[in-house]
Amino acid sequence: MKVLLAGGAGYIGSHTAIEIAKLGHDIVIADDFSNSKPEAINRVRTIIGKDFPFYELDIADKEKLRALFEAEKPEAVIHFAGYKAVGESVAKPIAYYRNNLDTTLTLLEVMKEYDCHNLIFSSSATVYGAPDEVPIKETAVVGRCTNPYGWTKYMIEVILDGAAFADKELSVVLLRYFNPVGAHESGLIGEDPQGIPNNLMPFISQVAIGKRECLSVFGNDYDTKDGTGVRDYIHVVDLANGHACALNYAAAHKGIEVFNLGTSIGYSVLDMVKAFEEANGVKVPYKIVDRRPGDIAECYADATKSRELLGWKANKTLVDMCRDSWNWQSKNPNGYDA
Ligand code: UFG
Repeated sequence: MKVLLAGGAGYIGSHTAIEIAKLGHDIVIADDFSNSKPEAINRVRTIIGKDFPFYELDIADKEKLRALFEAEKPEAVIHFAGYKAVGESVAKPIAYYRNNLDTTLTLLEVMKEYDCHNLIFSSSATVYGAPDEVPIKETAVVGRCTNPYGWTKYMIEVILDGAAFADKELSVVLLRYFNPVGAHESGLIGEDPQGIPNNLMPFISQVAIGKRECLSVFGNDYDTKDGTGVRDYIHVVDLANGHACALNYAAAHKGIEVFNLGTSIGYSVLDMVKAFEEANGVKVPYKIVDRRPGDIAECYADATKSRELLGWKANKTLVDMCRDSWNWQSKNPNGYDA
């Protein structure tokens, strides 16, 4: 299948590009580099070992997106094009709603014009808000989001639901990601956060390499096994493979379906620190500080539906996640910047 990866130069998009190209799909990437680097595209080309079309454009720019569809005629779109920083979304809500909703609406309009009927959307476990119970099934209540970023994911799910209801030709797969970590085993691509990392694993990696002095653990008084927050960390290559399964699913089914992409295992912040130290033989100094506003105690997936209907499950271990994160960080101490 010819697949457009919208926002495909980012962390999850670049890994997905490799996994689906490996399976024989033809890929086209479009990205405006608003939160990614051209070097990521060079490295994806190196890993795949062949060229593919790349378009530098804003997915919300309808004329440019039309020109891409005219030239490439993609049969499916994987939609990663959105802003994703929780804290920034609280400070810049309008920019988040404008960008994340506009990219989606423009994609839907242009896909329809060009008879492209398969859409995979990067959603997030954030749509579950503070879950009533864990593990979280896809049928859990959604829409109790705690920040504008989360609301954009929720709103886009609602928009896509309406679009799939109205257009019986359309196939939509919503993928609710849990906590992606790790990197491609080559160490050529990985997560390249700008400024101070918000997320745990890049912060741990930067402490280990000496870029930051100490990890702040946000609270040790949660009702969890050691008091620190519990999450479902998933290797980004497993997550990427979930998109490959979703493409097959979309091609074989009409309508809209939602899947959790997680391992179903919850690890605490201190589990992650310990595992990282042991896997890589490094020290990660940490201190306990106050809870971070908006954080929840526990969040991990019930991934049964993904296993049964997508034929997908996460295979990589916590050691793989820690080793590959460190391999990327230590080979690229400044990310994609030389
Ligand atoms: N944490 C720390 N110190 C840090 C960073 C994180 O202790 O410096 C803790 C958090 O308190 C939490 C855990 O590590 O317990 C994971 O935090 P992350 O920021 O890595 O991830 P979140 O679970 O908060 O957020 C992630 C994604 C969001 C998504 C959300 C819900 O980053 O995009 O999961 O699924 F919305």
